[in-house]
This record gives sequence, structure tokens and C-alpha cells, in this order.
Amino acid sequence: MLASLYSEAECIATGRRTTIFKAKSVTDAQHVVIKMHTKPYCTPKELARFHKEYNIGRDLHHSSHVVKYLSFIQQKDREGRPCCMVVMEDCGDSLQTKIPERGFSVQNFLQIGIQLTKGLRDIHKYGITHRDIKPSNIVCVNAILIV
Ligand SMILES: Nc1ncnc2c1ncn2[C@@H]1O[C@H](COP(=O)(O)OP(=O)(O)O)[C@@H](O)[C@H]1O
Ligand SMILES: [Mg+2]
Repeated sequence: MLASLYSEAECIATGRRTTIFKAKSVTDAQHVVIKMHTKPYCTPKELARFHKEYNIGRDLHHSSHVVKYLSFIQQKDREGRPCCMVVMEDCGDSLQTKIPERGFSVQNFLQIGIQLTKGLRDIHKYGITHRDIKPSNIVCVNAILIV
């Protein structure tokens, strides 16, 4: 099913809990990021966690400073175990990969700080605390977006 929806899937990060792919939507050629559990299937608790992340993302869809969540996909593997993933728009590279060796100029530093503050403002308006702000959780195209 996934292969019929997305092509050119490439794994960009894998951790104990989640694995991240970049891919392209077959229907509209949009570049997307797919986040799924690293284990071949997920527990009900993990399923709830992914779904919660997706719901929060959807609630924040209006914000131009927060990553856009596109869909939540839930399916079963051959043994009938649950699998799920969230699909987001591809927002480019993380801030972590963009830190210059000698640090940002004051101007860039302030620009990033201002964009980041706007993202946090939008999140806090919804009563949500991010709790894990760090360069790898911040992605940047033109504006700074929070993962
Ligand atoms: N929408 C996105 N656009 C571009 N890169 C992303 C996106 N979502 C995640 N990433 C990349 O994947 C990495 C891990 O994603 P993240 O959502 O932080 O996963 P986790 O919940 O496991 O921490 C990020 O550091 C970032 O580099
Ligand atoms: Mg992260």
C-alpha cells in the first residue's frame, strides 16, 4: 500500500524509537517526510503516541512556523500486528546540520531566535509545551519550523 502512495523512499535517520524517511507522493509529487516506529510493528501505547503527535500537528496546521502534518496511516502487517506512520511535508534540513563552525552571525542568530519564538508562541497558544527544543528538532527552509 505504501509503495503505491510514495516513491523514492530514502531512510535519513533511525533511532531506537523512530525511523525517518524522505519520499515523494505518487499522486502530487510532493516531497514528504515519513516517520514510523523502528520496530516492525507497534504497541497500542506507541500507536496512541504517533496518533497524538499527528493530532497536535493537525491542530497547528494554520501556523507557518510549525511543520505541516499531512496524514496518519495505520495498517496491519502480515501477522495482523499494528503498524503506523505519520506523513509530514518535507521542510528541508535540520538546524543541527547548518550551524557554521564558528557559530552564526549575530544577525542570523537573532533571525533564528525570532522565528523560533513565533513557532513556540503558536504552540503555546494551543496549550502545548514542546519540552525538547534543540537544533535537531528545528528544520529550516525559508522560515524556521519546529519538528
Ligand atoms: N518534516 C520534516 N522535514 C524535514 N526533516 C524532518 C522532518 N521531520 C523530521 N525531520 C528530520 O528527522 C529527524 C528526526 O525527526 P523527529 O520528529 O525529531 O523524530 P523523533 O520524534 O524521533 O525525535 C529530525 O532531526 C529532522 O532532521
Ligand atoms: Mg526529534
